[in-house]
Amino acid sequence: MESNFDLVIFGGTGDLALRKLYPALFLADCDGRLHPQGRIIAAARQTLDADAFRAKVGEALQRFVPKVSGDSAAAQTARDACLSRFLDRLTYFSLDVNDGTQFQSLKKSLDERDSKTIFYLSVGPALFTAIINGLKLAGLNTAETRIVLEKPLGHDLASSRAINALVLDAFADSQVYRIDHYLGKETVQNLLALRFGNTLLEPLWNRTWVRDVQITIAETVGVETRGEFYDGTGAFRDMVQNHLLNLLCITAMEPPSSHDPDSVRDEKLRVLRSLKPWSQDTLRENIVRGQYRAGSMAGVPAVAYTTEEGVAAGSDTETYVALRTEILNWRWAGVPFYLRTGKRMAERKAEVVISFKSPPHSIFDSPLAPNRLVITLQPEENVRLYTMAKAPGDGMRLREVHLDLDFKEFFLGRRQDAYERLLLDVLRGNATLFMRRDEADEAWRWCQPVLDSWEQDGTPPLSYAAGSWGPAASSRLTAMAGTAWHEELGI
Ligand code: NDP
Ligand code: BG6
Repeated sequence: MESNFDLVIFGGTGDLALRKLYPALFLADCDGRLHPQGRIIAAARQTLDADAFRAKVGEALQRFVPKVSGDSAAAQTARDACLSRFLDRLTYFSLDVNDGTQFQSLKKSLDERDSKTIFYLSVGPALFTAIINGLKLAGLNTAETRIVLEKPLGHDLASSRAINALVLDAFADSQVYRIDHYLGKETVQNLLALRFGNTLLEPLWNRTWVRDVQITIAETVGVETRGEFYDGTGAFRDMVQNHLLNLLCITAMEPPSSHDPDSVRDEKLRVLRSLKPWSQDTLRENIVRGQYRAGSMAGVPAVAYTTEEGVAAGSDTETYVALRTEILNWRWAGVPFYLRTGKRMAERKAEVVISFKSPPHSIFDSPLAPNRLVITLQPEENVRLYTMAKAPGDGMRLREVHLDLDFKEFFLGRRQDAYERLLLDVLRGNATLFMRRDEADEAWRWCQPVLDSWEQDGTPPLSYAAGSWGPAASSRLTAMAGTAWHEELGI
């Protein structure tokens, strides 16, 4: 059982809170993992009484808590019982974070209790400064508190540094939890297990055997209700600077000496520091920036990005990025790493694909496809190894086949969602899966030349149809090295 807590969620009526945070906390509560007296306090500007707020969260739980297929009637009854207990934990606090004086009344309500207080900044980075200052002014930054910062941490290198300096002026580094929910995903954890819990792959995991690495986070959703936020952010800041770089680090890092937070983070940092710096040539040739136009998602018409609610007409914010980079160290020198993300893509898929080199000499007439290890993070959670095998029948005709490891088949039962794992870690004070300040800084440092070049250049993003795999130019990016994106290779 976790210790008693007051969890204050700034932005507690927003999309992230409703879609991910309350469902994660609810499921943890149903499993008996929240202290019985733990409170969840949502803070936002709109005026809502406690009942209206609880009704709003109730609706969100209906919508976003996954209905486990085959849920037994008993499990459903237990969930219903848990619902009223969970809703009773919730209170709502109306406050405009830009008005520092309003933090005093929040303090009064927190002072009434003897519990650990966690401040979760589930708001855009533009509000971080006001919140940290407000907490400090009200004396809420005591040694007993923790503060969780959502990504993206800032808008660029300078603002990220300013936020880090401000938060570390008010809190000790050990109190600060910089969240990237991809680090809490089960399959990302499994990537660590696959690499460092086995000996099989390690001898192959380097430039001698790996031809290229592709890391994709493709989404079918558009910008939903977040048009305004997204239009000021774009895919590069929203996904590449954090989620994709974290996946790259876990894929490419050296084995850490232990699983303690700093050993893992030290190795991730080394990867970020080894990323090939951008040059004028690579900025021009190795990045594709796209924006979706109207198209069709599984047969249903989908509007163009520029006509989404909250998006400025004529906006040139990117909704798609594909890039090629390299890691300048002995393990990886010369191996292309392709990173790619987009909204309104053909399929929802997050995966890491390691393509191995072709056999140096073939004794067969059939062409040999390079072996590929595909680690799928979502929607399925599996690892698939593509190998060549002899097709039945006369002669030696070789065909590509795959060996599958489906985690859902092996590990039955409910999976913890990333936010559930990470929120419980914050309540317990375990920072292993959170970003350190120097990691965030280093990621921004590498990203900044890209942002600067786009700003100076002013070229609009390439257009791609909603429901496609992105601009045609992204295929040219891989074709330059004689390869192709995983889905273009078939099977
Ligand atoms: P939303 O725009 O949906 O929510 C913003 C929240 O902030 C609302 O509750 C809003 O309520 C509140 N708010 C805005 N201004 C103020 C203010 N001056 N004072 C107090 N409260 C205020 O954003 P999201 O929830 O989508 O995103 C929040 C952060 O989480 C972003 O940084 C995003 O990158 C990150 N994130 C989002 C994910 C998602 O799936 N949505 C996933 C991972 C990270 P009100 O208007 O009533 O004040
Ligand atoms: C968030 C981004 O960090 O991650 C969203 O802000 C994106 O734009 C989301 O949709 C994707 O997360 P997941 O877990 O659904 O892949």
